[in-house]
Amino acid sequence: MFKEDLLKNKVILVTGGGTGLGKSMATRFGELGANLIIGSRRADVIAKAAQELKQTGAEVLGVKCDVRQMDQVNEMVSAALGKFGRIDILLNNAAGNFISPTEMLSPGGFKAVVDIVLVGTFNCTLAVGKEMIKQKNGSILNIVTTYAWTGSGYVIPSASAKAGVLAMTRSLAVEWAKYNIRSNAIAPGPFPTEGAWKRLVPPGLNIEKKMKNRVPLKRFGEHLELANLASYLISDQAGYINGEVVTIDGGEWLKGAGQFNELDKLPKVLWKTMQKLRKRSKK
Ligand code: HXC
Ligand code: NAP
Repeated sequence: MFKEDLLKNKVILVTGGGTGLGKSMATRFGELGANLIIGSRRADVIAKAAQELKQTGAEVLGVKCDVRQMDQVNEMVSAALGKFGRIDILLNNAAGNFISPTEMLSPGGFKAVVDIVLVGTFNCTLAVGKEMIKQKNGSILNIVTTYAWTGSGYVIPSASAKAGVLAMTRSLAVEWAKYNIRSNAIAPGPFPTEGAWKRLVPPGLNIEKKMKNRVPLKRFGEHLELANLASYLISDQAGYINGEVVTIDGGEWLKGAGQFNELDKLPKVLWKTMQKLRKRSKK
């Protein structure tokens, strides 16, 4: 789809780049000539992914970093600058999520997700943005969801946080344009990943089939489809796209907004069982 040098010599920081969609996007960026920094909380996951990403030909720096902690974010950015001298592109992809009836949430549960998604995105944007301002050049891409604007029941912390990230994207598209920094977002529909499926698709209820059927195209997204869209948006070829959110969901939200609203059908007793199982496994 692209010339192989589309992202040649670009330095790209991907949060949550060790798993799922972040890893798939980082792989594509590497294939297109970029050098990479990936960061997340689990050092072993990041180290393994960094080794794999090197097979694309990219130089890769893997950093253990919790995006909720500003000091760790600053350390990741310093390490990136030490190795590469600059950061051209920031992909805010790290996220936390789970399904829960809102009345069963604790303030700690709400905060856990909002801190990763909204505060974490801000922390990385601030630390990397300051460098981009010095460079007078940069591109920021944030991963949101379609329920950032439609809302969805049963994922209130994530919906609230992603709506904040979308507002941040559009606000900075205007404010930081004077520094030649573009801000855009992608709203993916359902793309199977271990991290999302484990937390959002309760097993044994045939939910996966129903999820697929909600999509007018009757299938889930393929990682490469998302990775190609991200590659285009961060590249210089998209130099006039600023403040946009591009949906890639097979038409899903137009047919029936709020992916998790249908969890209304789950009986209360099942939520209570899931809560008990989670607390037991946490112990
Ligand atoms: C209710 C829950 C809960 C659940 C955790 N909590 N899981 N409450 N239902 N299923 C509450 C806990 O009781 C606790 O509250 C607080 O949240 C923190 O829980 P911890 O387990 O200590 O948190 P932590 O280890 O920091 O893990 C954060 C996490 C976890 C967000 C809860 O899921 C995580 O690490 N996620 C990272 C990866 C991820 O979520 N990937 C999926 C992204 S998919 P108290 O009150 O005890 O403090 C995605 C798709 C969007 O975003 C759109 C799809 C279409
Ligand atoms: P995933 O594999 O679970 O990705 C989440 C990543 O975030 C993990 O690598 C995780 O790594 C990292 N992370 C979580 N908390 C962090 C923290 N505090 N600091 C740093 N990193 C942290 O799930 P995914 O499906 O690929 O999701 C990727 C993105 O796509 C997310 O923004 C998600 O909201 C979005 N999205 C996904 C779908 C879908 O269908 N899959 C749909 C819409 C939007 P650690 O655990 O090592 O920290």
